[in-house]
Amino acid sequence: MLGPVLLAAARSDSIRRLVSAAPVTRPMVDRFVAGEQLDQALEGITSLTSRGMEVTIDHLGEDITDRSEALRNRDAYLALTEALAAAGLADRAEMSVKLSAFGQALPGGHELAHANVLPVVEAAAAAGTTVTLDMEDHTTVDSTLAILGELRERFPATGAVVQSYLFRTEGDCHALAGEGSRVRLVKGAYNEPAAVAFQDKREVDKAYVRCLKILMAGKGYPMVGSHDPRMVAIAQDLATRYGRKQDEYEFQMLYGIRAAEQERLVAEGNRMRVYVPYGTEWYGYFMRRLAERPANLAFFLRSLVSR
Ligand code: FDA
Repeated sequence: MLGPVLLAAARSDSIRRLVSAAPVTRPMVDRFVAGEQLDQALEGITSLTSRGMEVTIDHLGEDITDRSEALRNRDAYLALTEALAAAGLADRAEMSVKLSAFGQALPGGHELAHANVLPVVEAAAAAGTTVTLDMEDHTTVDSTLAILGELRERFPATGAVVQSYLFRTEGDCHALAGEGSRVRLVKGAYNEPAAVAFQDKREVDKAYVRCLKILMAGKGYPMVGSHDPRMVAIAQDLATRYGRKQDEYEFQMLYGIRAAEQERLVAEGNRMRVYVPYGTEWYGYFMRRLAERPANLAFFLRSLVSR
């Protein structure tokens, strides 16, 4: 019930100021975000890779409001690429980008986002790593998939994300299940209207399984982005059914969520990639994590009143 309220708050500047200033916020943010600076994030990343995990790194900075921020975000990703190469991590660490951080929502945003993300994808390929385009709210899906298609002409390993809560996504999975395609399937984290998305969690889960079947049966590389134990088990069953070995798909989970399960999957020989966000612009990401789980919100509110 509170989820939609929190997701609306995720886009409110006044609530952003309030939450960011509260002293109790910091320890909770630290659970989900690997630090504000690149060197802090690199520590967290090295710790994960030394324990057999792979990572995808998000330099936080969505929903920008002017072009100069888009350039700053592009430059931050270029610096990140260099740092990964210098640390010898390019084979275990890739990057996740949100096109809204590259100007997608500004006037002329489609072309702007494409122009800003291209140098990052080029630099990533030169360094021996890849980029996955995160998926944001439903109004951005056509633009993001079109940019993905253009990037994949030169950089076929560029990854996509699809969200099972959207009615359209089974169709997108069919379109993206071809040879060489890397597709992360998630349930979806935005506040979407009933006209475009399932509202009932059970329907979202059923759609997730249908999408998973399409991707596992296809010729691409499925990336199972979920902490849900049922989805993890179903993914393993489907992989067996469609003759996929453990290195022909991977699991992905978010930094700070179900860490023991991440370790268990690695210990069983699975590929496990942790999504590691870092940076100062953590507010929207943090609010989506609160919205996903009432227990997170309850803990946060208890900390606020117990001070
Ligand atoms: P579900 O929400 O049913 O949770 C299953 C269980 O996981 C819970 O019972 C709980 O134990 C645990 N859990 C889930 N969320 C938690 C939280 N916040 N705190 C603590 N425990 C939690 N979305 C999107 O719209 N676009 C994107 O690009 C991405 N990218 C992305 C990358 C990766 C690697 C992951 C794992 C997820 C995303 N997401 C995303 C987020 C995704 O859409 C979804 O909101 C969350 O993964 C929660 O859904 P689950 O599948 O985990 O199931």
